[in-house]
Amino acid sequence: MAMGDPRPIGIFDSGVGGLTVLSAIRKRLPHEPTIYLADLFHFPYGPRYQDEVRGFAFEIIRYLEARDVKLVVIACNTATAAALNQAREHFEIPIVGVISPGAQAAVDATQNHRVGVISTEGTMRSQEYLHAIKEIDPMIGVFQKACPELVDIVESGDADSPRAEAALERDLAEIVRLGADTLVLGCTHYPLLKPAIERVYPGAFKLVDSALTTAAKVERHLDHSRLRADSTEPRHEVLVTAMPQHFHDVGANIFGETVDAEEVRIWEQQKAQRT
Ligand code: DGL
Repeated sequence: MAMGDPRPIGIFDSGVGGLTVLSAIRKRLPHEPTIYLADLFHFPYGPRYQDEVRGFAFEIIRYLEARDVKLVVIACNTATAAALNQAREHFEIPIVGVISPGAQAAVDATQNHRVGVISTEGTMRSQEYLHAIKEIDPMIGVFQKACPELVDIVESGDADSPRAEAALERDLAEIVRLGADTLVLGCTHYPLLKPAIERVYPGAFKLVDSALTTAAKVERHLDHSRLRADSTEPRHEVLVTAMPQHFHDVGANIFGETVDAEEVRIWEQQKAQRT
């Protein structure tokens, strides 16, 4: 039998949100080594121009390639919207995003053909969810809402607080009024808001979380390309481009386990090399 491919899977986000994807991948694929990179140097991505976010994503993919990863997961909706298609044209390495898995899950979940999507401004402006959902089923009504404050709430460790509940009550009111039975958590920070959503609008929606569906997609890719690892004790690295202490604290707050992050200076190094 062929030996496994021991190279790690590279996963990145602008901050802690992508840890929801990392954790789903680690559960589903327990033998795979991983490198997770949080670009806190540029957080948040949501309000930035697409070109700028694409530039960050390309640098990170180059960095991960140099670290010899076998597959890259863009564990950020904003970066997926801004960079996935062009990154696939530019890089040979296989790249998976989080939008089409989430769109498919929403189409499978809705019974009344009405889907709400909450995301950052960047993801909403890109209209990628609308297109991805309507590509699968054009009869589905898609109601989108940008909720930038929710990103800050999660990133500062307040996902399960009265502040989160107040913001959700306001941000989801229109989608509830429009009768969507399914809500796509179109930002990797938002799955951490599930308990607060359930408290504010109990039973109103089926919640679609692209972390689980993305992990399933990664598994299919690895199997299809015969890239699976068989390590019994795979190595997991967590890297940040700034503020390792913040990551450590918020990671502990959110996941109940401390996340030891190492700082890598992708941009400073490049600036230094150029001068
Ligand atoms: N994690 C990003 C996403 O999924 C949002 C956070 C940010 O604005 O950087 O869209």
